[in-house]
Amino acid sequence: MDNKTLEDIFEGKLAKNEMIEPKDWMPDNYRKHLLRQISQHAHSEIIGMLPEGNWISRAPSLRSKLVLLAKVQDEGGHGLYLYTAAESLGTSRDEMLDALHTQKAKYSSIFNYPTLTWADIGAVGWLVDGAAIMNQVMLQRTSYGPYSRAMIRICKEESFHQRQGYEVMTHMAFGTPEQKEMAQDAMNRWWFPTLMMFGPPDIESPNSENAIKWRIKRETNDQLRQRFVNQTVEQAEYLGLTIPDPNLKWNEAKKGYDFSEPNWAEFKNVIKGNGPCNKERLEARNKAHKNGEWVRAAAAAYGKKQMEEILAA
Ligand code: 3HC
Repeated sequence: MDNKTLEDIFEGKLAKNEMIEPKDWMPDNYRKHLLRQISQHAHSEIIGMLPEGNWISRAPSLRSKLVLLAKVQDEGGHGLYLYTAAESLGTSRDEMLDALHTQKAKYSSIFNYPTLTWADIGAVGWLVDGAAIMNQVMLQRTSYGPYSRAMIRICKEESFHQRQGYEVMTHMAFGTPEQKEMAQDAMNRWWFPTLMMFGPPDIESPNSENAIKWRIKRETNDQLRQRFVNQTVEQAEYLGLTIPDPNLKWNEAKKGYDFSEPNWAEFKNVIKGNGPCNKERLEARNKAHKNGEWVRAAAAAYGKKQMEEILAA
C-alpha cells in the first residue's frame, strides 16, 4: 500500500475517534511527538517520587507515613506504565532513562521546587496531583491506545493522591494558628509553579497544534489551566487559605476566574535546569540508577535462566 493510502487510513481512524495501536501505520512525526510526551511524562512520575519521598521518614504519624508511602510507590508504578507505553513506539527503557539522566529529556518543572514543610506534602497532593489529574483525565481520550489505557489506570490512583493532599491541608488549615500559617506558606509557594505544569500559553506552545490535530491532547494548555483555577478557588476558600494572586477575580462573562499569568521567565529558567532543585533531583536520580544496577542485572539473569528452562522443556 502506498504512503497516501496509509496516511488516509491513519486520518480516517483519527476522524472516527478510533485508537491508533502500536502495530498501526503512523506518521513519523506522530510517533516522535508521542515518544517525547510519554517518556517525559514517565520521567515526571519517577522524579516526582523524590520531593515527597524525603518526607516519608518525617511524616507526623504512622497513618500519614503509610499514606505517603503508598502514594510514592504509586508514582513509581505510574512511571513503569508510561515507560512501557513509550517502549511500544520503538524505544528502550535504557534510551529513555539515559536521555533523562543526561538532561536531554525534560520532566515536569514542578518537581524542581523544594518540599520545605509537612504542609508542602499537602500542597503537592492537593495542587500538583490535582493539576496532574486535570491533565490526565483529558489524556484518557488521547488517540494512542497504550497511552490512553495507561491514563485510565493512573487516573484511578491519582484521585487518592489528591484526596490525601487535601486531607493534610484540611488538617493544617483547621489546626493551630502555626499549622494554618504553614499551610498558607505552602499555598503561597506552590500556586504559580502548579499553574506552570499545564505548559506555556497556547500562543507559545510549539507542540499544541499538532497535539490537537492528532488528538493527542483533547484540550489546550490554557483551557486546562483555566479549568484548574476555577475548580481550586472554591477548595481554597473552604480551607480559608488565600490564593496568592491579587488579580484573581470571578469573570461572569466567561464564567471563570481571571488570574495572573505565571512568571514564564522563571518557567523557562527552571526547565533549562536552573530551578531550586534541578541539580539535586538529577543527582538523586543518577545515584538511584547506579545503585540499582545489581538489581537489574540479577533480574535479567533470572529472566534469562527462566527462558532457557522454558526453551529446554
Ligand atoms: N515542565 C517541563 N517542561 C514543560 C512543561 C513543564 N511543566 N510544560 C511544557 N514543557 C515543555 C514541553 O515538554 C515542550 O518541550 P519539548 O518540546 O522539548 O518537549 C515545551 O515546554 C513546550 O511546551 P508545549 O506546550 O508545546 O508541549 P506539550 O504540547 O508537550 O505540552 C504538557 C506540555 C502539557 C506537559 C504535555 O506534554 C503533557 O500533557 N504531558 C503529559 C502530562 C505530564 O507530563 N504531566 C507532568 C506531571 S506528571 C505528575 O505530576 C505526576 C503526579 O502523579 C505527581
